Amino acid sequence: MGRVIVINSGKGGVGKTTTAINLGASLNLLGKEVVVVDTNLNTPNIGLQLGAPIVPVTLNHVLKGKASIEEAIYEHSSGTKIVPSSLSIKEITKFNTRKIPSVVRQLSQTNDFVILDSAAGFGEEVIAVIKAADEIIVVTNPEMPAVTDALKAVKVAREMGKEVNGAIVTRFKDAKYEMPLSSIKSMLETPIIGVIPEDKAVKEALNRRDAVVHTHPRSKVARKYKEIARKVAGEVVETRVSLIRRIFGIG
Ligand SMILES: Nc1ncnc2c1ncn2[C@@H]1O[C@H](COP(=O)(O)OP(=O)(O)OP(=O)(O)O)[C@@H](O)[C@H]1O
Ligand SMILES: [Mg+2]
Repeated sequence: MGRVIVINSGKGGVGKTTTAINLGASLNLLGKEVVVVDTNLNTPNIGLQLGAPIVPVTLNHVLKGKASIEEAIYEHSSGTKIVPSSLSIKEITKFNTRKIPSVVRQLSQTNDFVILDSAAGFGEEVIAVIKAADEIIVVTNPEMPAVTDALKAVKVAREMGKEVNGAIVTRFKDAKYEMPLSSIKSMLETPIIGVIPEDKAVKEALNRRDAVVHTHPRSKVARKYKEIARKVAGEVVETRVSLIRRIFGIG
C-alpha cells in the first residue's frame, strides 16, 4: 500500500497545487510510482496547470459512479500521472464525497505515493479528502493570515488522527515585512520541511503547462522541491555544510 499525502493549507492561493504538482513530479524523478489527484471538485486546478483541461473522464465522474478510477488516470507528457477533476459545471453537483476514501485506497494499491491536492477552506469536500489521507503536508506563505489558517489545518488533521508531516513555506521573499521563519515554526507546532522562494520560474512553468522541476531543474525552487521529496521519501538529505564536512572528514 502506498502513502496517501494530502496537501492542505486552509487559506486559498498559497501554493498547494504548485506544491502537489512539484512534489509529485520530484517523487517521480526519484523513481517512485506517483499519482497526483485534483480533489478540487468544484474549481479544478491540476488539469489546467498541466495542460489537460478537457478530458472525457474525471474524478467527478468516478465519484458519481459513472466511471472507474483507472479510466480517470492520465499521464502527463513528463511522465507524472494525474487524476483531474471536471471543468464542466454539469459535473460539479451530486458527487458522492463518501466515495473518496475507497477511490484513494484503490490508487494506493498501485502507487507508492498518492498526492491529494485539496481545495481551500474546511468544507465537507476538504474534510472528506483529509479523512482519506494518511498524512498531511501544510502549505503556507510567510504572513499571519496564511499561518493562522495553516495552524487550523494542522489541528484539524491531528484531531482526525492524521500524521502531520510538516509545513512548507512558499513564496518566501526573505523581506523584512514577512513573518520570520522562527515565528512561523513556533506558531505552527510542526516542523518546517522546506522553504520555497518566490520565483518567476513557477509562472514560466505554468505557462509551459509543466512542473517547475521539469522546466527549470536547476532553479532554487526546483532544488528545494526535490529536497522536500527526498525528505518525504525518507532519504537522507545532505545539506551543503554536511556534504563539505563529509568530504573533508570533519565531525
Ligand atoms: N514559489 C512561487 N513563486 C512564484 N509564484 C508562485 C510560487 N508558488 C506558487 N506561485 C503562484 O501563486 C499562485 C497560487 O498558487 P497555487 O495555485 O499553487 O495555490 P493554491 O493554494 O493551489 O490555490 P487555490 O487555493 O486557489 O487552489 C499561482 O499563480 C502560482 O503560480
Ligand atoms: Mg490549488
